Formats: sequence, structure tokens, C-alpha cells
Amino acid sequence: MYAKCDAHTAGRLLLAVGLVCGMRIVDVSGQTAADDKTQRLYTTKCALCHGLNGTPKAIAKGAPVFTDPSWTPSKETIVTAVMNGKGDKMKSFKGKLTPAEMDDVAEYVLKMKTNAALTAGLPAPAAETQKPH
Ligand code: HEC
Repeated sequence: MYAKCDAHTAGRLLLAVGLVCGMRIVDVSGQTAADDKTQRLYTTKCALCHGLNGTPKAIAKGAPVFTDPSWTPSKETIVTAVMNGKGDKMKSFKGKLTPAEMDDVAEYVLKMKTNAALTAGLPAPAAETQKPH
């Protein structure tokens, strides 16, 4: 793929080819920048209790296994749990996550069931510092 791109860069449509190559790189990884941000959100805010692979750690005993096929929540159920907290361990994320982020992370949780790539081969959370909330 790179060789192909290099060959093309000799051509006149340098910018267009650059964009196409760039898009291919995104396609190959199967992830967009937005997915990446949501994954980081999950790994930093949720995984400490719910596990990188959606299986709750000891601290979150009683929480659902997110990859369990018999666990079929609506997205609203997840957003509500994030918004209001659940039980005595999971605190509300109100004011810590934006409504859009709650929505994204709920979708991410739902996708964990069908997208094995999210739960296997997860990249280590980036070492970059979190936005202060
Ligand atoms: C401090 C630990 C902790 C953190 C952090 C945490 N959770 Fe939870 N979560 C729990 C526990 C414990 C439960 C089970 C609570 C109960 O049912 O009593 C739970 C339950 C849930 C449920 C099930 C809700 C339902 O109605 O059945 C969802 C969905 C969920 N968490 C999503 C998330 C997401 C998404 C994040 C990150 C934004 C997150 N949690 C962060 C501990 C945590």
C-alpha cells in the first residue's frame, strides 16, 4: 500500500492521492478518530470497574458483563446509568462527561458485544493527560 501511494505521489494529483491514502489507513485500522476518543473515554473512566473487556472487576461485583449476549439494554439504559450513577459504587458522571460523550460511550458499550476488536487487542490507554473536569 505504501509503495502504491509513493508511486502515485509522483503524479500530479498529489493532494487527492494523499487524502485517499490517508483514508485507507483509517479503513485498515477500522477506527476513526472519534472511535479512538471514545475508546480512551471508556478505558479511562469505565474500565477500572467494568474491565477493558467488559467483564466487571471485583470492585464492580453485580455489574453486567457487557459482552453477555443475554444482556440487551437499550442505549438509554446505559446513558441513564452513566448520567445518574447506579447502585452505591457507580457515581454519576453528570458534569464530568458531556451528553454527547455519554451517548458515545453508551454506543461503545453496546458495540463491545459484536466488535471483538474492541475487547481483544485493545491498545493501552494513551499516556497523555486527561482533560481536567
Ligand atoms: C467505581 C466503579 C464504576 C465505574 C467507574 C463505572 N461503573 Fe458502571 N457500574 C458499576 C457497578 C458496581 C454497577 C452495578 C450497579 C448495580 O446494579 O447495583 C454498574 C452498572 C453499570 C451499568 C448497568 C446499568 C443497568 O441499568 O443495569 C452500565 C451500563 C454501566 N455501569 C456503564 C458504565 C460506564 C459506561 C462507565 C464509564 C462512563 C461506568 N459504568 C463506570 C461500577 C462502575
